[in-house]
Amino acid sequence: MSRRNTIAIAEIVEESATLRTFYFEHELKASPGQFIMLTDFELGEKPFSISECKSGRFGVTIKKLGKFTSNLWDKKAGDLLSFRGAYGSSFSLKGKNCLLVGGGYATPPLYFLSRELMRQGAGITLVNGARTKEDLVFCERFEELQLIYKRITDAGCFGRAGTSVDIARELLEKNDYDMVYVSGPELMMKAMRDLLTEYHNLEYEFLFERYMKCAIGICGNCTIDPLGIRLCVEGPVLARDKVEQLTEFGKYHRNAAGTKEYFKAK
Ligand SMILES: Cc1cc2nc3c(=O)[nH]c(=O)nc-3n(C[C@H](O)[C@H](O)[C@H](O)COP(=O)(O)OP(=O)(O)OC[C@H]3O[C@@H](n4cnc5c(N)ncnc54)[C@H](O)[C@@H]3O)c2cc1C
Ligand code: FES
Repeated sequence: MSRRNTIAIAEIVEESATLRTFYFEHELKASPGQFIMLTDFELGEKPFSISECKSGRFGVTIKKLGKFTSNLWDKKAGDLLSFRGAYGSSFSLKGKNCLLVGGGYATPPLYFLSRELMRQGAGITLVNGARTKEDLVFCERFEELQLIYKRITDAGCFGRAGTSVDIARELLEKNDYDMVYVSGPELMMKAMRDLLTEYHNLEYEFLFERYMKCAIGICGNCTIDPLGIRLCVEGPVLARDKVEQLTEFGKYHRNAAGTKEYFKAK
């Protein structure tokens, strides 16, 4: 099991009214797509994807949702938190001409991925989609990288209304990508899987979020039907051969009690 580290928050960057990146000065051995289990010593542990990781410093970008994340909003630089990890599978980094498709607050791990792919000389087109302009994350950071950057909102904040899947559809028609990486809300990823069925030979990898408790493959809460894959160990990044077989994908997930909850289109 990965060692627990208790560490002071080095910096907190306000990304939007409900999104913050918490930075830690620590040499974390991690690859894009992996996550840490973070605790505030009061409200248990929660999983968060690594959005940035470079020499001696890493960050996780957190959406304020319920009790745990709201409690983090009271923290300031210098306060102690504790984490274990990095855990899970990572994106493969094998693409040479890559399409990265992000949705909402699940997009930040694609920033870590973009940087690593660029270090390997890959060409990247990144689509950043969200409901509104306020929900669109990491815009300036992506614009600073040497990649083709597309952004879109459901609300049409930049002229055109639509989703990142709409942009991905157009890009796939016109370009010859060798790899597609996706991180977003499950119904958006389901739409991406449907779209990618038209491109039989194109490899892809998706980053999944399921309710996690132990993160080390013991409790079974994060398994996904019908393969029984433990997303904390064999995931959270799954490749096409696995994603194509998932019957619960886009239909339901399990809550803290292990009970099925069906996704509702918003
Ligand atoms: C692999 C992975 C990576 C994640 N990366 C990020 C990230 O980078 N940034 C981010 O903001 N969030 C991320 N999440 C989700 C994050 O763990 C939850 O948003 C957080 O735990 C919410 O806790 P809460 O008490 O504030 O809210 P709650 O009110 O308890 O929950 C709000 C939502 O978060 C989900 N959630 C709550 N607890 C867990 C848990 N233990 N495991 C998985 N989902 C949970 C709930 O199902 C619910 O949909 C990730 C989840 C997983 C599984
Ligand atoms: S969270 Fe316990 S097995 Fe994955």
